[in-house]
Amino acid sequence: MLMCLCYGVSCKDIKTLVNQGFDSKESVQEQCFAGTGCGCCLEALEKLVESEKNLAKFSNLTTSHASVEQDNSLIQYP
Ligand code: FES
Repeated sequence: MLMCLCYGVSCKDIKTLVNQGFDSKESVQEQCFAGTGCGCCLEALEKLVESEKNLAKFSNLTTSHASVEQDNSLIQYP
């Protein structure tokens, strides 16, 4: 689905950029110019960047938790 009609940038493009470390609206705009044309997509762009950042944080927490659980399973009780 296209996020920015002016520059032909999709939601997937934005998510990919955020996951590559471009985790602010400004840094995403520098990479793909989304939101720098008519500005109609700016609010949606900000929301998508924030939600993708939060998703990445949650994903990292889940991975950490899984690692701890995995480590605990290695403990052998007498
Ligand atoms: S639709 Fe994104 S700047 Fe115009």
